[in-house]
Amino acid sequence: MILASAMAALALWPVPVMVQAQEPAPKLVDVDWLKRNLTEENVKVVDLRSDVRYRAGHIPGAVVLNRDSVKSMDVQALTGLLERMGIDDQTMVVACSDESDERATWLVWMLDYLGHSTSAVLNGGFSSWVKAKGTISQAGPVITAKVYPLPATFREEIRASLTDVNESVAREDVLVLDACAGNQGAVHHVWNDDLTSNGTWYDTEKLRQTYKALGVTPEKTIIVTCGESDMATHTYFTLKYVLGYPRVKIVTDGQGGPSRAGESFDQNHAGTSDDPETLLQRRCTSCHGLKKVTRHKADRARWEKIIDNMIRRGAKLNDVEQLTLVEHLAKNAK
Ligand code: HEC
Repeated sequence: MILASAMAALALWPVPVMVQAQEPAPKLVDVDWLKRNLTEENVKVVDLRSDVRYRAGHIPGAVVLNRDSVKSMDVQALTGLLERMGIDDQTMVVACSDESDERATWLVWMLDYLGHSTSAVLNGGFSSWVKAKGTISQAGPVITAKVYPLPATFREEIRASLTDVNESVAREDVLVLDACAGNQGAVHHVWNDDLTSNGTWYDTEKLRQTYKALGVTPEKTIIVTCGESDMATHTYFTLKYVLGYPRVKIVTDGQGGPSRAGESFDQNHAGTSDDPETLLQRRCTSCHGLKKVTRHKADRARWEKIIDNMIRRGAKLNDVEQLTLVEHLAKNAK
């Protein structure tokens, strides 16, 4: 035991860091980069997959962040959580989800809001790590709590309100982009169309052409909307960090997203009073009939995957609703 804790202490000994301040930290890192930098003292992988998947195996040293538990936090609680995960304002945070999905970009956006510039998304997420035969660990991480100073100001320039959206109609220099399928009339481009079937981003040139064809160009301020602001963070990331657009915002008004101190991060995720049947009607009938759902028998884990898949296809439901439906549908299968 003593030896184990001595070794744990050694593992925390400061080592020279490779992520230096001279050049901007990368925003989209690949598995090779992570393999090279994983043992650097100031690099911390934050795993945004479910707790169950995390426990089954994760990137060594990764800490798990349950997004649901963060939804109702204000910025002060968030920085407190970062501290307990061993993250301070100098830490290079690498967000890792199942693939390059909206959970990872959501964390980057939140950190951007705090003014935390050294954060990145692992391109292709945990699946890419597994494919590249990266080491997988089941050990709990060794964490030294840090102090995360609450910033004096927040980056309000990356949030937009519904008023901003309405006012943009009269402005040529502002464009509203819907990152979910739907909304007739609005310029729209579904967030996950930016990803290849491997869950990694398409190459920059292809993405640039796609957005240009829609009139989504870098000289404009781009306001990204989506029923759930999480998905908007994905497009925010693509435009801002994959393509380098200077002015990108997401709409957070009344649809969740982070908050100033004291406000809740995400009202939408605070809970839902809808019963499962109503939820099925409201969330699952816009693309196909309910028969497709009810005749399908699956367990909890499988339903979680199916609904994740539906969300990628454009179904709009928050985490609490997803959980409610997973429980309900898995029970029906018995
Ligand atoms: C934005 C459109 C859309 C919405 C909304 C949507 N789905 Fe689907 N769903 C699809 C498409 C497209 C398919 C067929 C392709 C496929 O199987 O992946 C499908 C197929 C399915 C299947 C069959 C999958 C299989 O493996 O055979 C199930 C079950 C399902 N959906 C459940 C749901 C549930 C539950 C909801 C609500 C949470 C939902 N869907 C909402 C688009 C949608």
